[in-house]
Amino acid sequence: MSKLNILIHPDPRLKKVCPPVADVTPEVRRLAEDMLETMYDAPGIGLAAPQVGEMRRMLVMDCIKDEEATPEPMVLINPEVTWASDETNTYEEGCLSIPEQFGDVVRPAEVRVSWTDLDGKTREEQFDGLWATCVQHEIDHLNGKLFIDYLGPMRRQLITRKMVKLKKERARL
Ligand code: NI
Repeated sequence: MSKLNILIHPDPRLKKVCPPVADVTPEVRRLAEDMLETMYDAPGIGLAAPQVGEMRRMLVMDCIKDEEATPEPMVLINPEVTWASDETNTYEEGCLSIPEQFGDVVRPAEVRVSWTDLDGKTREEQFDGLWATCVQHEIDHLNGKLFIDYLGPMRRQLITRKMVKLKKERARL
């Protein structure tokens, strides 16, 4: 397994709609393992393929935050929201591509999602709580959408300027 480089906003690859994964090949399985390792190492609770420069519809997540608890790594290939609750939830979201910036985002409190798993089987599950927020945030990435797109234009510009500065600082190191 190897750790992958996480793209930092602004980056044109984070604004693109990703095409579906055609086949669950060994290469796709290895990418999923690398994405999980990268996510746990960050540490984060979710990571979408375009965040590591892989333009295809897949994501990994594990919303078990308690370090004593058993990890629940999930890999979702070609995920699709098939149902969303009218009830909403507000979470202070962050993103590995927008480090140390947070903002309140309102989303459906529960969603049902169908996807292809690493065995190529179709699965469907209902998510709530942090899992529901996380899966919606990650699916947004596959459509070129970031959590800051839900914030006001002033706040979005402020965060983007901070990220431009951060990238310049990192490039100098
Ligand atoms: Ni994110």
